Amino acid sequence: MLQLTCEELTKAGFGLPEVLLLDTPTNSSALTLILAVWYHRSTPGGTCFIYLRDASETQAWCAGVAVECSLAAQEDGDDAAWWLLRRSTFPDRFDQLAAFTGESRELVLAKCHAGIVRTKEAWDSAPTASTAEREAFYGTTDAYLYELIVYEDPIPVQQPAAEAQLRQFELAHGSGGLVLRSAQYGPIAAYDISEVMRAFLRFRVARYYPHLADRIQVLDEWASLPLESFDLVHAYHVLEHMDDPQDVLRRLAGLLKVGGHVHVIAPFDAVGPEYPEHNPNLAHLTVPDLFEAAGLEQVNTYPVGVWQAYVGVRR
Ligand SMILES: C[S@@+](CC[C@H](N)C(=O)[O-])C[C@H]1O[C@@H](n2cnc3c(N)ncnc32)[C@H](O)[C@@H]1O
Repeated sequence: MLQLTCEELTKAGFGLPEVLLLDTPTNSSALTLILAVWYHRSTPGGTCFIYLRDASETQAWCAGVAVECSLAAQEDGDDAAWWLLRRSTFPDRFDQLAAFTGESRELVLAKCHAGIVRTKEAWDSAPTASTAEREAFYGTTDAYLYELIVYEDPIPVQQPAAEAQLRQFELAHGSGGLVLRSAQYGPIAAYDISEVMRAFLRFRVARYYPHLADRIQVLDEWASLPLESFDLVHAYHVLEHMDDPQDVLRRLAGLLKVGGHVHVIAPFDAVGPEYPEHNPNLAHLTVPDLFEAAGLEQVNTYPVGVWQAYVGVRR
């Protein structure tokens, strides 16, 4: 077993079968980074013993990255402990993307690491002055795939309960993590303007999540979806990229049954060099104002990382 300090682990190459991690930080964000490095560099089925100086607080972080997290030894009269973490042998999202693109896992990870910078470079080098050019950019770029997959939350692998039958639609599904998770609650249709995203999501469902295949429908267009037939509609981080988000939200509201909900994240005011793809002409808009104009009642709002999600209901 390799015995590494945090610094050595951060520099270590890929394919570590077993690691004994010494010198763990007490700062939880530093520890999260170290855990992520270990997880992404270890081989499927690899193990890691990690010494946590503040076991009570940081155990949750370990459980979040590893498929198995168990207490290996506890120091007497102290909160500090050794934990055993094991990486799943099930291909994780980076393995899935590597299988889709035909690249190595290392190359996929490197591109993901450069995520937001790669997307910005792709945007800066593409013609984006007209609506048609912007749609062509979103329709063909693969940059978002590598950027978005980094942020996916864990995807449940169990069979959804048969009685979970919430009818859902997601606009702009990106790499597809939300679709795969939401299938636990009921059937979900999803559309993204990007052909690559649609192909990747179809590939993931067929190869890795076949138990969800009868619940997930990846659409080539969403104009012909039946009106007033959905319980839940998601539109995360897409309205601020569009020309006429008001019209799109009205169309989304029209898909909802009476009593159906829409969840929206749209930071219209995040414009400028850091967010080149966000339409600067929309900076004055707010989601609550858009809800009102679309006849939706705002019933909740909650933080998602640094962003704010809004929930509207169709009365
Ligand atoms: C910032 S990403 C967000 C993706 C995903 N909703 C998430 O939160 O991870 C923006 C997504 O919107 C998609 N998109 C851009 N314009 C679109 C349009 N007019 N219709 C549908 N999808 C669009 C892009 O292809 C991209 O996947």
